[in-house]
Amino acid sequence: MKEAPEFWSGWRDRLSALRNVPTVLHYVWESGRSVVVAGLLARVVAALLPPALFWVTKLIIDTIYNITIHQPVKHNLWWLVAAEFSLALAGGLVARGIDYTDALLAGKYMNYISVRVMEHAASLDLIAYEDPVFYDKLERARVQATDRLYMIQAMGRLVQQVITTVTLSISIMLFSPWLLLILIVGVIPAFIGETHFAFLGYAKNFRQTPVRRQLDYLRILGGSKEAAKELKLFGLKNFLTGKFKRLSDQVYEEDIALAKKKGTAGSFLSAIGTAGYYTAYIYAVWRTVTGAFSLGTLTFLANAIRDASSNLQQTFSTLSTIADQALFLTDLIAFFDMKPTIRTKPNALPAPRPILQGFEFQNVSFKYPGSDRKVLNGLNFALRPGERVALIGENGEGKTTIVKLLTRLYDPVEGRILLDGIDLREYDLEDLYKEIGVIFQDYMRYEMTARENIAVGRIEYLDNLQKVQESARKSMANEVVAKLGAAGYDQMLGRRFETGVDLSGGEWQKVALARAYLRDAQLLILDEPTSALDARSEYEVFQRFAELTAGKMAVFISHRFSTVRMADRIVVLENGRIAEEGDHEYLTSLGGRYAEMFELQAASYR
Ligand SMILES: Nc1ncnc2c1ncn2[C@@H]1O[C@H](COP(=O)(O)OP(=O)(O)O)[C@@H](O)[C@H]1O
Ligand SMILES: [Mg+2]
Repeated sequence: MKEAPEFWSGWRDRLSALRNVPTVLHYVWESGRSVVVAGLLARVVAALLPPALFWVTKLIIDTIYNITIHQPVKHNLWWLVAAEFSLALAGGLVARGIDYTDALLAGKYMNYISVRVMEHAASLDLIAYEDPVFYDKLERARVQATDRLYMIQAMGRLVQQVITTVTLSISIMLFSPWLLLILIVGVIPAFIGETHFAFLGYAKNFRQTPVRRQLDYLRILGGSKEAAKELKLFGLKNFLTGKFKRLSDQVYEEDIALAKKKGTAGSFLSAIGTAGYYTAYIYAVWRTVTGAFSLGTLTFLANAIRDASSNLQQTFSTLSTIADQALFLTDLIAFFDMKPTIRTKPNALPAPRPILQGFEFQNVSFKYPGSDRKVLNGLNFALRPGERVALIGENGEGKTTIVKLLTRLYDPVEGRILLDGIDLREYDLEDLYKEIGVIFQDYMRYEMTARENIAVGRIEYLDNLQKVQESARKSMANEVVAKLGAAGYDQMLGRRFETGVDLSGGEWQKVALARAYLRDAQLLILDEPTSALDARSEYEVFQRFAELTAGKMAVFISHRFSTVRMADRIVVLENGRIAEEGDHEYLTSLGGRYAEMFELQAASYR
């Protein structure tokens, strides 16, 4: 009794999922038009072969029956046998053709969807990435990109099955409408069963997504180079595998429970279908015995009923497969429907070149989604052209957050950020990004060649080795590359691939820094990218940075006062606002927060 509402809402969901079908058909069509057409043609031919074959068999039997009783052999008979042979041959050929077009389409569709998922994921806000619901969606969309091939084949099969079923049904009906009715009634319960279980399967998978995500994480963690050191030394092997086993057992048990239910109900329902078939068969035999049908007709009907019944059953199960798969696609389509909130508005302005007045934060407050704490609280801050500003503050004071707002990875919750007196949101986003070069604290280490690792800063320069080398010199990554040996800039970095060479943290940082120089942007931002360098190397890197950015706008974040001193202006961040600002001399003479932090660090060197 308790299951009833769930049952009906399940049906509603199933039917509404069919709305996804046109969208998917559109994707399929877009991924390979000529293959779709060829596949459909082959299906139509394949669909008409069984009825034709049965009909020729009927003619052969009727001809033989008439020969033995009344007349000598007619040539006609051998032509019919030849016809049956050709139809059988054609059947084999068309089936291969269908397999081939299916394989082609599968490949094309998979690539098409994978590329679209990647493109779309890249277009979404960082905010989306903070949201676990988004991750579940992305995960399901990703799986769906590759897992739903079955649905496309099912759609092709459906076309074929419907044509075969309709042709056979019409011919059966011409002999006796009753036969058809018996058939249909026998098949319906199986159909309802099929769809019901398809839906339960979907609901189960949906429930399991968070657990599967955890499983994936544990699996990746267990095999990751980054984690290996701690896993070993802390003795975490059993902790991890135990956790994994508990979760995977849970998934397994749910899977098995459903499979059991489905097996039991399925065998009962298919027995009803078989009973339907034999009822119809007995009726046809009876009509033959009473002289209404010829022997050939009985053979035809027996074949047609069996094939129509199994086709009808398959049509229903194909339909429910499609409905089931369409349910899964709800997530893919929902994912494609997600729109970034940070995007270029219509008639956006190009980024100013050159920037004349600089950036200005006016009363900016910011909270991360899902958190109530104001990381920035009414912050006022300006960055003028030609100015190099150092941002300092304790961990978690919001330095990186300021960088994210300045680069419009996020928008402020309150207040506004102006560039040359105009709200940042008025500018074309991609054009704005072009004028900013930023290396974050958690910059990427691409498991690619040294050249690619630098060229990602401005990918148009991938084949311009001279530019790549020039920026490597600026960041002192050239010294790193020189140590790589013969392959030089074409040396694969990282440990993931066989020929890869791993770098130390400081070396990676120099490589990443080269990206910023390659960008050739009006504003350069370095967010603690040198923390893995020793004090002396950091000093050198920053001295070079200060020279290279003379007359440009630059923001850098560092904990080392030797570096911070190079800035034209130092901004001390505290409680989401600016606590003090000025140059080094001024701030030390002030005897406030800066002076205190400076003293602390200086003392540790004495
Ligand atoms: N993606 C995020 N979601 C929620 N809170 C965040 C996120 N990133 C940073 N925070 C929080 O915002 C505060 C400021 O972080 P951040 O700007 O990275 O500080 P800083 O760079 O000064 O060390 C910290 O308390 C941090 O925990
Ligand atoms: Mg930070």
